[in-house]
Amino acid sequence: MSATHPSSRRSTPAGAAARTAAVPCWHLRSDEFHCSWGHAVIVRWPSEAIWEDLVPSLPGFTVEIVPELDSTNSELMRRARNGLFEPILLVAERQTAGRGRLGRDWASDTQPAAAGAASLTFSLGLLLAPQDWSGLSLVVGLAVVEALHPGLQLKWPNDVWLDERKLGGILIETATGVGDMRYVVIGVGLNLTMPDSQGLRTPAAALREVLPGVEAPTVLERVVRPLVHAVQRFSETGFVPFRAAFAKRDVLQGRDVLCSDGQSGACRGVDGRGALLVHTAEGLVSITSAEVSVRPAPAPPSPSAFGA
Ligand code: BTN
Repeated sequence: MSATHPSSRRSTPAGAAARTAAVPCWHLRSDEFHCSWGHAVIVRWPSEAIWEDLVPSLPGFTVEIVPELDSTNSELMRRARNGLFEPILLVAERQTAGRGRLGRDWASDTQPAAAGAASLTFSLGLLLAPQDWSGLSLVVGLAVVEALHPGLQLKWPNDVWLDERKLGGILIETATGVGDMRYVVIGVGLNLTMPDSQGLRTPAAALREVLPGVEAPTVLERVVRPLVHAVQRFSETGFVPFRAAFAKRDVLQGRDVLCSDGQSGACRGVDGRGALLVHTAEGLVSITSAEVSVRPAPAPPSPSAFGA
């Protein structure tokens, strides 16, 4: 089984070589699925279908699926620092040192593989040169929730929420690129099943509550294409055309919030650059800093709209 197609290129980063060597991973031409096994389950990834969909709009695009990595974001940032700026989708079936926003950890999939993938973790690396980067993280979150389920919401800037609980997170990092383009690494982590709640700051939710039985490859296939197209559109237009759609998913709209810088007030949505608008005692304040965490005040219990 030769891996000649770009979508099946499986470069093994030096740091990951020892960890991945025991887990065969190859590309099956017959059913156009990337296939890997390490324990008791075989995960079939639609790498070729995704590659074929996206390569026309992303020349040089590759898809790479690995059984284990420290972090897909860390890996693409390492490559960028070494001058590798290819457009790439990198999926890790398991992360050993997943990273979240604000320097936090992102819990790894610790469930036995036989139970099925408990999460989907991937990063998309692209060269981009938008006029204004503001709002990109909101656009990414929006693309993810719109691709998956009408009941999913966003907690500013881009946490994926379901029924007042966190279902997924997004970590966006950039590195110096080529000319006026920066290399952006968009990392997405989604719980498919309920993670171990120990040590979690926010109660967790699972995608299977609204999409029973859904598997990681299906979720990947649903999300990646709209995500790439949304990011490309953002690069041309900025955040403004996405603002109304964000408002429909905005879990904080109209709610009383407390910001980590001490400000509090009622949320009034986001402005045309994706900044959070909060009506405080001093007036309307726009919050842009990634260092600000916004905690929603307890909401009245809402009847579940999706029968979860
Ligand atoms: C957050 O909510 O704090 C963001 C979590 C982002 C997790 C994803 S999983 C894939 C990618 N690799 C990482 O190490 N982090 C992101």
